[in-house]
Amino acid sequence: MSATDFMPLDGWDHIEFWVGNAKQAAFYYEQAFGFTRRAYAGPETGIRDRASYVLEQSDIRFVVTSGLRGDSDITKFACSHGDGVKDIALLVPDAREAYRQAVQRGARGIVEPHTLEDEFGQVELATIGTYGDVVHTFVTRNDYAGVYLPGYVEQQSSNGTGDAGVGLLNVDHVVGNVELGRMDHWVGFYERVFGMTEMIHFSDEDISTEYSALMSKVMTDGEGKIKFPINEPAEGKRKSQIEEYLEFNQGPGSQHVALASENIVQTVEALKERGVLFLSTPEAYYEDVGDRVGEIDESWEDLRRLLILADRDDDGYLLQIFTKTAQDRPTLFFEVIERHGARGFGDGNFKALFEAIEREQALRGNL
Ligand code: FE2
Repeated sequence: MSATDFMPLDGWDHIEFWVGNAKQAAFYYEQAFGFTRRAYAGPETGIRDRASYVLEQSDIRFVVTSGLRGDSDITKFACSHGDGVKDIALLVPDAREAYRQAVQRGARGIVEPHTLEDEFGQVELATIGTYGDVVHTFVTRNDYAGVYLPGYVEQQSSNGTGDAGVGLLNVDHVVGNVELGRMDHWVGFYERVFGMTEMIHFSDEDISTEYSALMSKVMTDGEGKIKFPINEPAEGKRKSQIEEYLEFNQGPGSQHVALASENIVQTVEALKERGVLFLSTPEAYYEDVGDRVGEIDESWEDLRRLLILADRDDDGYLLQIFTKTAQDRPTLFFEVIERHGARGFGDGNFKALFEAIEREQALRGNL
């Protein structure tokens, strides 16, 4: 028996964002990122305290939710943290058992196991806490044929048609930023509660620029489907980008969500056309990247034109690019990644990436 047998994970179910204005956030993810609206719950469907929009692209499901009143927990979350990830929901074979195992292993129970039911069947849900105000909901939907969850009605995109999307396929990883000295605590949490193992770690010597540094460890389930990198700030000459995040998010939270593409060149071209803004990469990066990464299927000219980064590890190579933050606070952003065998996270790119983030940080007066 492997260590993960007590907590089998079937994959990502959805990522729910708690935001100040879900109607506009849904429009943004549809128009800018190519998501298609599938479902809605709100006052019109008998839900009195919130409005939620369910957006999909291939295997990625985002839910954006706003509170409707000032005293709602959703409103308070958005007030304290800004728009951000609330729930990294995971598909499990048995949500009740997953909750029981998690709580028994020290996880904070948030919502006890319960069943939602409608004419399309039933879904089992249970929720535990992780870093900051972020939670993991366990979802078992084997017996459900509805569009999302009981309580939601099918709804089309605001332009009335489905979007063909930009070629985003699935969630690759979701990164958490935690306070200085807390990374190992959360690494221990994912080991103990989920039976995950540490697949890779980066020290402040690996990830440091002239000004700031961070440390990172990547937790993964047995099959490597679910990957949770966890960052903490390290001592640098100036304020680390993780410290900037922690200040503006008022504590720990999800730093970025990485979405996989099968053709990053086409995906990034489409995203740029739709107005998504990406971090820039210094021209100098492309002078030696070919020597560092070796032969790839894509044209270097395309990567250079779109400012896509490349890296190689023992198993292959990967291509990646990072968006600017998705809201005014310097907190959550997205990554687009295409893996050709590589299982890493582009550590060869960390320095180039962090220098790019720091240029943005300096423009905000926070460096
Ligand atoms: Fe990443």
